Amino acid sequence: MERLQRSILLPLILTASLPGLGCCYSITKGPANATVLAGSQARFNCTVSAGWKILIWLSNGNPVLTVLSSQGSVETTDRFTSQNYTSGDEFTSELIIHNTQLSDAGRIECSIQQPSENNFAFLSVQVNGSLFIKNSTLTVKENTTVEIVCEALGWAPAPDIAWMTNDSLIDKSSYVNQQSQGSDGLHNVLSILTVTPTATEVLTCLADIEALPEPQNATVTLIFDNSTAENYYREENRSSWVIVLAVVLSFLGIVLLTTIIVVVVRCCLKRRASTYQSEIRKVSAEKKKDGDLENRQRNGSENPGYLPEELWNTEQSPGTASLPSTSSKFTGPEDNSYISSVPKVRPQRRPDHPISPKKIRNVTLV
Ligand SMILES: *[C@@H]1O[C@H](CO)[C@@H](O)[C@H](O)[C@H]1NC(C)=O
Ligand SMILES: *[C@@H]1O[C@H](CO)[C@@H](O)[C@H](O)[C@H]1NC(C)=O
Ligand SMILES: *[C@@H]1O[C@H](CO)[C@@H](O)[C@H](O)[C@H]1NC(C)=O
Ligand SMILES: *[C@@H]1O[C@H](CO)[C@@H](O)[C@H](O)[C@H]1NC(C)=O
Ligand SMILES: *[C@@H]1O[C@H](CO)[C@@H](O)[C@H](O)[C@H]1NC(C)=O
Ligand SMILES: *[C@@H]1O[C@H](CO)[C@@H](O)[C@H](O)[C@H]1NC(C)=O
Ligand SMILES: *[C@@H]1O[C@H](CO)[C@@H](O)[C@H](O)[C@H]1NC(C)=O
Ligand SMILES: *[C@@H]1O[C@H](CO)[C@@H](O)[C@H](O)[C@H]1NC(C)=O
Repeated sequence: MERLQRSILLPLILTASLPGLGCCYSITKGPANATVLAGSQARFNCTVSAGWKILIWLSNGNPVLTVLSSQGSVETTDRFTSQNYTSGDEFTSELIIHNTQLSDAGRIECSIQQPSENNFAFLSVQVNGSLFIKNSTLTVKENTTVEIVCEALGWAPAPDIAWMTNDSLIDKSSYVNQQSQGSDGLHNVLSILTVTPTATEVLTCLADIEALPEPQNATVTLIFDNSTAENYYREENRSSWVIVLAVVLSFLGIVLLTTIIVVVVRCCLKRRASTYQSEIRKVSAEKKKDGDLENRQRNGSENPGYLPEELWNTEQSPGTASLPSTSSKFTGPEDNSYISSVPKVRPQRRPDHPISPKKIRNVTLV
């Protein structure tokens, strides 16, 4: 019992005898961890017992603000200010960091230039990025599975993504979250939800980080298209329209093609006919010439051979004297030439017959 009394009494005696030395004040409540959004304020409290002389706030080891018991706070930058509270014989200094930056994150320390515990905390700075679903309204047919993409861009840290349908959370197995980090150190998350709607529903993508009082959200309305019969009808209608259009167009095409062919053929016919006729005329003309020549020759052969006989028989013309010069050549084979000239005439005419069938054949080929 004596030991116990001593152990209790000794510190009491010591503390009672020391206040004059100013060594035994302490931090009764140190700062607490804080998580804030970048750009907002961060506040930390440090409460000290009576007798304190100096209180220094350090951010990541650098002094940012000093409070003297005699003079109050000494602020050197706009970003770090403080408020003072006094409650009984305890003093509280509240550090306010304005417009927090990502670089402010880290250790915040309250120093009273005395060894003390619980005198530091951690500040984390987060970034509220953007959240959106690309497809804002989707019409989904029955038994159709769709993928809804929700994108969270420029966050710190990467947000937790969750999905809700109307008012209930969707099971995690229905979506996949893909994380990536940008060059600016911020995080992006792509969440892909696979859903087969059975009714019209509002899908909500939720992105949450600690610093947000409420998760950010983005919504999409899935309109369930139950009108399958109507769709089939529409599709059938569409396809029938397509068929009708195709038939009409092909018919028109055929008509157009035939008219073009007819016109072309007629044109060619006229041209060819004209050329043919001219050629035939030429040919016939040449052949006439030839024929004339031959005829002349023939006539020459015929007439001299034949006429002189008649002439000789009927009368004696004075031209006979000149004729014998030409007839003398033919008088010999007179009968032969006459006979042979008859079959000769037929083959000459033959070419006229084949020409006209050829003409017809060429036309049909075009
Ligand atoms: C404060 O934050 C640090 C680092 O994030 C952590 O280790 C510590 O447990 C936190 N303290 C409290 C009281 O939450
Ligand atoms: C600091 O303490 C004061 C006074 O008790 C209180 O009003 C304020 O909200 C506290 N600040 C923080 C960040 O806890
Ligand atoms: C976070 O960002 C969204 C979109 O920019 C905005 O609507 C929302 O108010 C922000 N939240 C806070 C707490 O600043
Ligand atoms: C939703 O939007 C994305 C991106 O624009 C697109 O690739 C996807 O096909 C859309 N989903 C549906 C079901 O329309
Ligand atoms: C959808 O699926 C159900 C069950 O498999 C089936 O009975 C129904 O006919 C389907 N509807 C359509 C439009 O395919
Ligand atoms: C979801 O909400 C929409 C519109 O508020 C409603 O038409 C639909 O029936 C709801 N779906 C479910 C599954 O509750
Ligand atoms: C979505 O955010 C708005 C504010 O931006 C809020 O009013 C609404 O309740 C949120 N919806 C859900 C489902 O959290
Ligand atoms: C879908 O349509 C059928 C009739 O076409 C109807 O009986 C059924 O209730 C509808 N279902 C929904 C979910 O609207």
